[in-house]
Amino acid sequence: MKIKAMYFSPTRTSEKVTMTIARKIAMKLKTSLESINITKNDDRNEVPKFSNNDVLILGLPVYAGRIPEIVEEYIHNLKGNMTKAIILAIYGNRDYDDALLEMRNILDENGFEVIAAGAFIGEHSFTEKVATGRPDEKDLEEARAFGDSIAVKLEDIGNNAIESIEVKGNYPYKERGELPQVAPSTNDNCTECMDCTETCPTNAISKTNPKETDTAKCILCCECIKICPENAKFNADENILKIAKMLEDNFSKRKDPELFI
Ligand SMILES: Cc1cc2nc3c(=O)[nH]c(=O)nc-3n(C[C@H](O)[C@H](O)[C@H](O)COP(=O)(O)O)c2cc1C
Repeated sequence: MKIKAMYFSPTRTSEKVTMTIARKIAMKLKTSLESINITKNDDRNEVPKFSNNDVLILGLPVYAGRIPEIVEEYIHNLKGNMTKAIILAIYGNRDYDDALLEMRNILDENGFEVIAAGAFIGEHSFTEKVATGRPDEKDLEEARAFGDSIAVKLEDIGNNAIESIEVKGNYPYKERGELPQVAPSTNDNCTECMDCTETCPTNAISKTNPKETDTAKCILCCECIKICPENAKFNADENILKIAKMLEDNFSKRKDPELFI
């Protein structure tokens, strides 16, 4: 058996949760672990194949109650062969709406058997005041315990076929809605270290001037804001600031992970 942990994670919270669970399962089952980071556009040129000896752990952040549009086609192209899968939706303490159901349905139609699912909380991309610092130690503790339970389930099932589990969510899925075509701004703290340019998932930030971002390419993942060592990147757009304020006013009460197994 081989554990393959795949994640899209601009601000690294989905990566943290996915890898914590994956490492625990691999350790318990004394099997190998491969991580497949699909965050950057260039990471998604090839679609790996999955056999029935593989276990796929797929971790995605929730964008507008759905899986991020930018990875939708790629996820649809994943093909399993009675491959056991674990799905993880990481959301910013508002709601994960239909994201888990969407992931389950896509994998179920593509030859995977979803044996466990989890909705975990990560610091909100738009504001560090919502779900600050999450996943925190309590979340990671739950993630590790979840990994233990998944390992037990995988051992019990072996190579037998199993129906994909039920998760929360509605179909037809929530409409994504439009975000304004804007990008984070840059202040004078910028030292042109180019960290943001190099890590931007969509190559939206100029290779010669990191203060310039192509708004047509920007997906507002806020990776540049969170990674900048000088706090030089920030959201200045009125609409994004309004959303951030709405989130701070209404979704600051701590939510806990939800597990389906
Ligand atoms: C464009 C966009 C839309 C988002 N929509 C939601 C949402 O519908 N519900 C929610 O709770 N969080 C939402 N978030 C917050 C992210 O799901 C959350 O911060 C997640 O931890 C980010 O994952 P990452 O660190 O792996 O990038 C959104 C973030 C972005 C950038």
